[in-house]
Amino acid sequence: MKRKVFVSYPIAPAGLDLLQQHNIEITMHADHVPLTQPEFIRQFQNHDAVIMTLGEQVHSDVIELALRGNPPTKIFSNYGVGYNNIDVAYAKSNHIFITNTPDVLTDATADAALLLMLAVARRFRTAEHLIRAGKFQGWSTLKQLGVDLNGKTLGIVGFGRIGQAVAFRAKAFGMEIIYTKRTPLELRIGKQVSFETLLRTSDVVSVHTPLTGETVHLFSRREFEMMKPNAILINTSRGAVIDEKALVVALREGKFFGVGLDVYEQEPHVSPELFTFENVVLLPHIGAATTETRNRMSLICAENILDCFNSRTPRNLVY
Ligand code: 8YV
Repeated sequence: MKRKVFVSYPIAPAGLDLLQQHNIEITMHADHVPLTQPEFIRQFQNHDAVIMTLGEQVHSDVIELALRGNPPTKIFSNYGVGYNNIDVAYAKSNHIFITNTPDVLTDATADAALLLMLAVARRFRTAEHLIRAGKFQGWSTLKQLGVDLNGKTLGIVGFGRIGQAVAFRAKAFGMEIIYTKRTPLELRIGKQVSFETLLRTSDVVSVHTPLTGETVHLFSRREFEMMKPNAILINTSRGAVIDEKALVVALREGKFFGVGLDVYEQEPHVSPELFTFENVVLLPHIGAATTETRNRMSLICAENILDCFNSRTPRNLVY
């Protein structure tokens, strides 16, 4: 019998090609509008494996349905490194594999963090808007002034693969690196400090921690108050690490030099007030969005599924 894979969202071809070479039947939701959760629930069942995105929730109800499928679903291959959308403990206790796509998206996501940092520091939005509006009247000595990154302190919250890749890039821009990490780490590129020290001493704070019970609203009013008055805040991890309502209030109070966001608390919803601030740069969750990265993610999703179908432990099992 042909193995069957359900793909909840259109993905880059590399992994799909690999699955097809193994004579696997693929059913893909081909529309770029994400499936609603009830639609996902209706469609994923009765497939041996599922490739899904952060838009679909794999909680106990889905896992129960997976177990009762014909065939039962044996693996949820998450198209992304973050898996806060999945009840991993419940899946594990029911012997269902959960895998993700680490490493391959590290560089693209770190690039996106730098993109936001530079865009905010150099007031890219305002400058670009000015020229498109036909208001460029020659260069100016005292207008459009940004701030240097060189010589500034970058505080990296969460010093995993992506946080470290950001550190290496920022070092090349002449920044001093401090970071927080749950476990001690000997990396000569920066200094490990407490979260409070990081908040109080960083000129730029970049968030790279996964979203967990402990990191939901890690940044709220209290933390914003500890930060330097003219700090830059960048988030390319998960929106809910920052309390978006409190962020809007802090921005209204003129708290930051600027803020750069790639992720939001209730995606795809973005707090409308965020659009009103000149010093806020917003991206539509494009951290990993390069052709090369998306193909590598697709390939890894497929490889994890093939591992499972060949009775091996998938290479990127998250537990
Ligand atoms: C993806 C991401 O765009 O890897 C992640 O955790 O947030 C992004 O790479 C997204 O997860 C797609 O599912």
